[in-house]
Amino acid sequence: MEVIVLPSASHVGELAADIIAKLVRDKPTAVLGLATGSSPLGIYAALATLVSTGELDLSATAAFALDEYVGIAADHPQSYLSVIRDEVVEPLGMDPAKVRVPDGRADDLVAACARYEDGIRAAGGIDIQILGVGTNGHIGFNEPTSSFASRTRVKTLTQKTIDDNARFFDSADEVPIHCLTQGLGTIMDARQVILVAQGSGKAAAIAAIVEGPVSSMWPGSILQHHPHATIIVDEAAASELTLVDYYKHTYDNKKVVATT
Ligand code: GLP
Repeated sequence: MEVIVLPSASHVGELAADIIAKLVRDKPTAVLGLATGSSPLGIYAALATLVSTGELDLSATAAFALDEYVGIAADHPQSYLSVIRDEVVEPLGMDPAKVRVPDGRADDLVAACARYEDGIRAAGGIDIQILGVGTNGHIGFNEPTSSFASRTRVKTLTQKTIDDNARFFDSADEVPIHCLTQGLGTIMDARQVILVAQGSGKAAAIAAIVEGPVSSMWPGSILQHHPHATIIVDEAAASELTLVDYYKHTYDNKKVVATT
């Protein structure tokens, strides 16, 4: 696990975008894993800049979103289908036919989840998965006590997540109770993972995920077992990390090792 601590939220988005851009330049048909929420917005904004200046072409990439609310109308502005279209696919010039979101409106949700897993497999797996993190340590919507072996499935949101996400709705009562989410096992199959977090509200979750025991009570801690996970945070989100000076020292000296 590589931990990179940067001075501000905008640095976080720009570095994550640079990592993704490099991957796509090497592999224009890369399969991206997309996260929603506020955390990755800086990544999408930085990628959109690279696309608009002609430095990056994402039109041949495919993508799979992490999650979706159950029962939310497709055209609801907070459905992840809408969010992914408005904040990612259109501004980044991606091909909508190659971008999928779990179908939270399916009559048979179990079958929809199985089809989603099949789709990821058929696409050759996810090359790089973008992740935010919930204040309770969830990744995707894998709430505390999610199985580390879980695949895409129905989950029930915790009250904490409903309260956190109420800001996107008119009230907490409007936040759906259920969701579909890629499982922790699905996320762990991605070949590379980038988790971003900004602000002091994420400090406890970041400390638990990076330095705590691997525990389903902090689902993101499973990333300690991922062979290529990069955690990129601003100073505020890093504020409860015990080894913060070590992470900064390591990153500052990374180029020295890479070039010798
Ligand atoms: C949401 C999403 C997660 C996201 C997290 C944090 O509910 N399902 O994928 O990482 O919660 O959200 P935010 O980035 O807005 O803090």
